[in-house]
Amino acid sequence: MVSCEDAKNSPMKITSIKGFADIFPGEVETWQWVEAQARRVFSAYNFAEIRIPILEKTELFSRSIGETTDIVEKEMYTFEDRDARAGAGAEGTKLTLRPEGTAGVVRAYVEAELYKIEPVRKLYYLGPMFRRERPQKGRMRQFHQIGAEALGRGDPYIDAEILLLLHDFFQSLGLTEPALQINSLGCSECRPQYRANLLAFLKEREATLCGNCQRRIDRNPLRALDCKEPGCIDATKDAPSLLDGLCAVCAEHFATVQRLLGETKVNFTLNPRMVRGLDYYCRTTFEWTTKLLGSQSAVAAGGRYDGLVEQLSGPPIPGVGFAMGVERLTMLLRLQERSDAGGLDLYFAWIGAPARDWAFPLTHRLRQQGIGVEIEAESRSLKSQMRRADKLKARAVVILGDDELAKGLAVVRDMASKQQQEISLDNLETALTARKAN
Ligand code: HAM
Repeated sequence: MVSCEDAKNSPMKITSIKGFADIFPGEVETWQWVEAQARRVFSAYNFAEIRIPILEKTELFSRSIGETTDIVEKEMYTFEDRDARAGAGAEGTKLTLRPEGTAGVVRAYVEAELYKIEPVRKLYYLGPMFRRERPQKGRMRQFHQIGAEALGRGDPYIDAEILLLLHDFFQSLGLTEPALQINSLGCSECRPQYRANLLAFLKEREATLCGNCQRRIDRNPLRALDCKEPGCIDATKDAPSLLDGLCAVCAEHFATVQRLLGETKVNFTLNPRMVRGLDYYCRTTFEWTTKLLGSQSAVAAGGRYDGLVEQLSGPPIPGVGFAMGVERLTMLLRLQERSDAGGLDLYFAWIGAPARDWAFPLTHRLRQQGIGVEIEAESRSLKSQMRRADKLKARAVVILGDDELAKGLAVVRDMASKQQQEISLDNLETALTARKAN
């Protein structure tokens, strides 16, 4: 055991884990703004929040995301719980830190039999996800998603609705990027034939595919279409198109999604090579990508997953949803110089103890009314107090010294317009409250 004495003698700097980041004040305000806009826009589309555990049984993810996906093959944080029964070779339950939210939402939906109460559910979630990928710009091992899932509807109107929701959300943040790409992966009727055609095509070019694609070619040939290795890009250049292989029902479904996007003036491009990195998808899939973030270009992504509820032992209920990466979104907001101003409503600068004592109870009353106020903690020059107000991004500064007290007024300086106004102390509280209301 390490005693206090030992710890004192060998101070060791404990750092955070690679790919796991702290989010500090200054940045958190942008996160809060993003979350608030998401809640507002999602509620307008009648989505309700669900909170699901961060830890789930490993099997949930391997069964839903797919055994041959990168996530399940090599990126999950999995460990054995301490519940192993005594005895040689006994193992504890295998648990995994969630790498995404869809599987957990569907598990909760099936487990609570939500479909019995109300067949259509529109749910959203926010929170950390974990994937042991190689960290780089826009790619973390702990990252955050805001996601939504619509369960119980197979019609193309809900696919379009989800895309409109995302469009409105990006607009609410004032973003001009990302841009929408869509595709259809077909269904259990038409995909097997397409898969067989693609497999035959790839087999002829197997030698030029990367090791990863060669290994999973028989189990998951579609992944080769999405592979970023130059050999695979070249080999699949003339591969059969997913869109040409759709059955009539899927083609009609996808045509309706496109028509609805056209009618609501949401721009999109078709990307028949987009297959997504998770196995549960069918029919509509989409990604919102930007060129501004380098190789980690997908800000939001998702699609339809009609077999997933059944795969997790529920009834045959369709679903469609998406998730966006909050780290990538906040990077984009910075690049496009979009952020909530944040900061304080007011900063109280005082000169002399009587002014401080006068200001102290008023500060309290203003805070009780929800006005963000900071009051200087030490006796300092007015200049250094103004510098601090600037640093805290205060929208206004109230200046009160002995002279002002004697005259019965305070000076209120608007930090944006730099205009100053003298306000009588009797009216100060009302004036400051009115400022906030405007
Ligand atoms: P996904 O494409 O794996 O889909 O992830 C969605 C988004 O999460 C990505 O577009 C990206 O913005 C962000 N993201 C993923 N991995 C990382 C990472 N390592 N670092 C930073 N950001 C990351 C899903 O997770 C599906 N569950 C989406 C969905 C919901 N489909 C249907 N419903």
